[in-house]
Amino acid sequence: NVLFTKNFDGIVIKNDIKGVEILKENEEHIWVKFGGGEIWHEAVLHSINQGWAGIENLSLIPGTVGAAPMQNIGAYGVEIKEVFESLEALNKTTLEIETFDKQACQFGYRTSTFKTDKKDQYIICNVTFKLNKKPSFMTEYGDIKNTLKEMNVQELSIRSISDAVIKIRQSKLPDPKVLGNAGSFFKNPEIKTEKYEEIKVTHPHLPGYPSSMGGYTKVAAGWLIDQAGWRGYREGNVGVNKKQALVLVNYGGGTGQQIIDLAKKIQQAVNEKFDILLHPEVNIIA
Ligand code: EPU
Repeated sequence: NVLFTKNFDGIVIKNDIKGVEILKENEEHIWVKFGGGEIWHEAVLHSINQGWAGIENLSLIPGTVGAAPMQNIGAYGVEIKEVFESLEALNKTTLEIETFDKQACQFGYRTSTFKTDKKDQYIICNVTFKLNKKPSFMTEYGDIKNTLKEMNVQELSIRSISDAVIKIRQSKLPDPKVLGNAGSFFKNPEIKTEKYEEIKVTHPHLPGYPSSMGGYTKVAAGWLIDQAGWRGYREGNVGVNKKQALVLVNYGGGTGQQIIDLAKKIQQAVNEKFDILLHPEVNIIA
C-alpha cells in the first residue's frame, strides 16, 4: 500500500518473518500468532483449512500479515481489529521488541497508531489473532449475499464466504501482479449526515454507510469519482480503473509523480462537483 514518488535514497527492508504458532485455545476461540512476513491471503487460507473463522471476509487482500494492522485492513463488513489480539514490533530507535494490545494500536477506519503518532517508528514482527472455532458469518454486505446466491451456495461456511469474496474481488479489482495498483487509492470520506441527505436529494443513489463518528455518514469515494466522470480515464501510462474508480492503475512505465498528479485532478473534480475532499489511503513516500 505504498506509492513511491521517486527513487528511494535509503534502505528498504523486506519483512520475511514466517511462522504460524497456536498460543492457546478454548472451546470457542484459538489464539494464533503469524509471522509478520507471512502472505496475508495464505494466512487466511490456512485459517479456513483449519476451521478457524474471522478473517474469511478478508480473503485475497494483497500484502503481508505484518502490514495488516498498519491500516486496520477491512473488506466486506469485517476489519482486522475485530479479531486482533496483540502484536510484537521492533522499535527502530531502541531496538527493543514492544508488545501492543488492541487499545495501544488505536485502530480506526483504515488507520492505526502506526500510521499516525507512531508513524515510521516500528517494524511489525508478528501478529496474534483471536479466531473463532464457532463461526458467526458476516454476509450483510450486499455483494456477498448476491454472489452467494449466484454461486448457488446451499450451506453457508467460512470457505463459501471466502470463495464469494474472491469472486467479487477478481471481478472488480485488478491483480497488482498484472496491472500495477495499490487497491483503493482514497479512503471513503466521512461527511456530516445532513450533508449526505442534502446530496441525496439530487443524487439518490449515493451509497452511504454508518460511520463510527456520531452524526457522520461514510460515502463511497468510488461512486463520487465515477459520477464525476473519471472511471476508465487514462492519461499516458496511468489511469483510473475501468471497473472500480477508487483504484488508480499504472499500465506500465508510469511514474509515482504521474499517479499523484492524476490523484490531485480527481480530488479537485470531486471537490468541485460534490464539495467533498478525498484523502489518500495509500502511504505516499515523498
Ligand atoms: N461504485 C461505483 N462506481 C465505482 C466504484 C464504486 O458506483 O467506480 C459504487 C459501488 O457500486 C458500490 C459503492 O460504490 O455501491 C462501494 O463500492 P465497493 O463495494 O466496490 O467498495 P468501496 O467502498 O469502493 C471499500 C474498501 C475496499 C474493500 C471494499 C469492500 C475503502 C477505501 N475501500 O471499497 O478496500 O475491498 O470496500 O469492502 O474503504 C482497499 O482498501 O484497498 C480496498 C480495496
